Amino acid sequence: MKVNRMLVLGIESSCDETAAAVVADGERLLSNVVASQVLTHERYGGVVPEIASREHLRRIVPVVDEACRRAGVGLREVDALAVTEGPGLIGSLLVGLVYGKALGSALGKPVVGVNHLEGHIHAVLLENKIARRADPSLEAAEFPNVTLVVSGGHTVLYRVEAQSLRSSNGSPLLHFRYIRLGQTRDDAAGEAFDKVAKLLALGYPGGPVIDRLAAHGNPSAVDFGRIKMKGSAFDFSFSGLKTAVLYCVRGTALESEAEDRRRWQNEERAQGRRPSADELRERCSGTTLDLIASFQRAVVSDLVARTLRAAEAESVASIFVSGGVACNSELRRSFAAAARSQGLGVFFPSLALSTDNAAMIAAAGYFKLISGERADIGLTAHASLPLGVTSTV
Ligand code: KG4
Ligand code: ZN
Repeated sequence: MKVNRMLVLGIESSCDETAAAVVADGERLLSNVVASQVLTHERYGGVVPEIASREHLRRIVPVVDEACRRAGVGLREVDALAVTEGPGLIGSLLVGLVYGKALGSALGKPVVGVNHLEGHIHAVLLENKIARRADPSLEAAEFPNVTLVVSGGHTVLYRVEAQSLRSSNGSPLLHFRYIRLGQTRDDAAGEAFDKVAKLLALGYPGGPVIDRLAAHGNPSAVDFGRIKMKGSAFDFSFSGLKTAVLYCVRGTALESEAEDRRRWQNEERAQGRRPSADELRERCSGTTLDLIASFQRAVVSDLVARTLRAAEAESVASIFVSGGVACNSELRRSFAAAARSQGLGVFFPSLALSTDNAAMIAAAGYFKLISGERADIGLTAHASLPLGVTSTV
């Protein structure tokens, strides 16, 4: 028996990962290829936009080919394409978007544009479907929920609603509604991790290494206090915390210790080596490790507290957490503990689907495609592209 399925090729290039994936029916992950540029950008301590666009140009064709090869499908067997249209670095976005549009036109296949943030939200749903296929006893991700998208570029809280509709051919389809409850007023949480890592000479990106090193420090050693926000309780601010870390370092022994680490890392890099977290730890004093652990605790506590408060205010029973910072082990533990004590369901994607990837773009695009949405020739990239509507309460 031939089973009708919709194969969506997702393409994502909004920042420094060139990614392509093939997803069947919005729920079966056939391939997920991510070419990270981290080794290219790390020597600059952050993403250099011009270099990122050039790297995307170099990699986009082989990455898409590899995604099809791993999925075992030819380009012509793909039913539709979903491409990230924003927000992100404009030069980077344009590479994936223009390639996706050109491919769609050459193959005669429909194309839809997907908001990167919507992709991160759908990563949670996709992961839950994958997990439940393997183990149907697992809890199903539910709507309405409160979703925290927390990455290097974004820290946003949404209320996400899904309405069940029937398509013209009778197949079930969902219409999603995103209500933005709050967002960061300055740095994104991942950006704060990256900047603090830069200040302490821990390499780039900062999140993964801080996560590893924090386990060896005392999170109560430095009391940064609660982050206070005037106005919305669901907005975030991390730049003050980053400055507080700077004050702990400037003019102290931690500063020269960081300089020693920076010199050592530059020498290692010149030899073509990339220091591991364990090697870095050997070059961190107990005071530095305590500072790292305390910084992470302050970020995690703030993210968890505001998300829980939003879930309570919105009277929802589930929380979704997605984006690169959702890889953080303390964040996962804290949410899981809060969920247990408050009877909430908390859903994370796997680590691979938490950071930027194209599977989430294909999964989000699938719902648009089955509802009949098609991009026209005018589809273009947007550096800034808010998702959904702003909460009025
Ligand atoms: O979602 P993502 O891949 O790209 C953006 O859309 O920004 O997120 C990258 C961010 C970086 O800031 C990185 O430091 C952070 O996610 N990150 C982490 C961890 N892994 C990645 N932050 C904290 N703990 C981690 N384990
Ligand atoms: Zn992202």
